[in-house]
Amino acid sequence: MPILLADLEKIVRQAGSIALRYFNDLDNVAVIKKSPRDLVTDADVAVEQYLKQALAEVYPQYGFWGEESGQSDDQSSRWIVDPIDGTHSFAKGQYFWSISVALEIDQELVAGSVYAPALDDLYIAAKGLGSSKNGKAISVSAEDSLANSMIATGFACLRSYLEENNLQRFCRIAEETMGQRRFGSAAMDLCLVADGQVDAFWEQELNLYDVAAGALIAKEAGATVTDFKGNDGVFPKQILVTNSGIYNQILALM
Ligand code: IPD
Ligand code: CA
Ligand code: CA
Repeated sequence: MPILLADLEKIVRQAGSIALRYFNDLDNVAVIKKSPRDLVTDADVAVEQYLKQALAEVYPQYGFWGEESGQSDDQSSRWIVDPIDGTHSFAKGQYFWSISVALEIDQELVAGSVYAPALDDLYIAAKGLGSSKNGKAISVSAEDSLANSMIATGFACLRSYLEENNLQRFCRIAEETMGQRRFGSAAMDLCLVADGQVDAFWEQELNLYDVAAGALIAKEAGATVTDFKGNDGVFPKQILVTNSGIYNQILALM
């Protein structure tokens, strides 16, 4: 392994305590609209700044790509960071938001952690070594009936500009499943698949920083990760993540 997972966990937990300081004082947190449905707060910026500096201190050999500060020069191996995934939920005082950090080397995801500070749930994975939640190994659900499944999804913040805006798929899938949820953090949605709390997750028009860590965590927990046509790999613009039992049934609805 190119890094120690204990280093990654320590840094992500520290980022979580920075985020919580803002979360516990939301009246004094500035919320700015990057576009009509895309928010950034002081917390997003502070958490990303901390992560960029702390990761570079321990692993100076890797580049950096964060949602708020952009890309460093070296991108052949890089940390991919969403400082707060679920900023809308965060800004409303809800608990379902997370910090997402992945390490990609030569276009391959090798490590990742997603931490939900308000829930104190920490998910972590390394390529080939499995995934865990709060120190315990996790795996995808064994559900094999789409009719009995619970599915997670989300609606991209740019949906108002898109012709194909999730809603038709949402209706199709709602007809065929037991329940569909919109939790508000794609990174967490992927971890819920990894943990068997939901049976599948799909969304479109995401970015790599939303899904990089969560996709590795889901994969290492036994999930299949493809686009809506069934091509293997992490495709943020069309991502489908599920167990093998319902994969073909849900793929047919995409
Ligand atoms: C958002 C969350 C949400 C998804 C949106 C993303 P942000 O990320 O992942 O679940 O539906 O499309 O933009 O903006 O809170 O980092
Ligand atoms: Ca995000
Ligand atoms: Ca974000």
